[in-house]
Amino acid sequence: MKKIGSQATIAIDGPAGSGKSTVARRIAERLGLLYLDSGAMYRAVTLLAIRSELAADSPELLEQVKACHIKFEDNGKTILLNAEDVSVQIRTPAVNRRVADVAKIPEIRHEIVKHQQRIGGEGSIIAEGRDLTTIVFPNADFKFYLDASVTERAKRRLAELQRQNVDITLAAVEAEISDRDEKDKTRAHSPLRAADDAIRVDTTDKTINEVVDFIIAQVCEDEIG
Ligand code: C5P
Repeated sequence: MKKIGSQATIAIDGPAGSGKSTVARRIAERLGLLYLDSGAMYRAVTLLAIRSELAADSPELLEQVKACHIKFEDNGKTILLNAEDVSVQIRTPAVNRRVADVAKIPEIRHEIVKHQQRIGGEGSIIAEGRDLTTIVFPNADFKFYLDASVTERAKRRLAELQRQNVDITLAAVEAEISDRDEKDKTRAHSPLRAADDAIRVDTTDKTINEVVDFIIAQVCEDEIG
């Protein structure tokens, strides 16, 4: 396993289903990095909103977000919300439908970003999401923007959902992803976009391992070179 610098940051952004989380997880394992799944944090606060039946822009929700404890265990595989393991609950269709509306609230983003930057200060990290290369870690050592056709992304998400026994059609998944992309790309605050200095990777016809190897090659080449 190659160790990159003691305080190196790899940031990856891209739309839903572009392969970011699987790729980032594998790279974290191979390079011995901390893994930050930033979407899981927005999903956790969306769960707070759903459970308390609060509107995304309500002051009560913001108070809950400020007071809550979000913690990752097992290098990002488990997420604890106020000490409760919510790793499965944050991936339901109900959360998928609401999350972009919660994530567009600037005050909520502010709280989450502060938390992410604290985690980033703990050591070498690979972090993925929608604004990691632009807002959270604008000075990241390595930046990547992953994308793929919407049909390919929907197929990947469908396979994931089917493994969890969720009964849903490809058309429904594609509609949900397109709707979320649109909201994430057009919101006023921290919209999803490729940073000017990010390396773009189209993953449509690539396997996970090809993308992992490509990113590791970029990172290691720079380390050696
Ligand atoms: O990455 P994932 O699909 O789990 O993200 C869920 C949602 O969280 C995204 O669709 C987006 O609305 C929000 N998000 C965000 N900024 C991030 C990561 C996720 O707004 N950095």
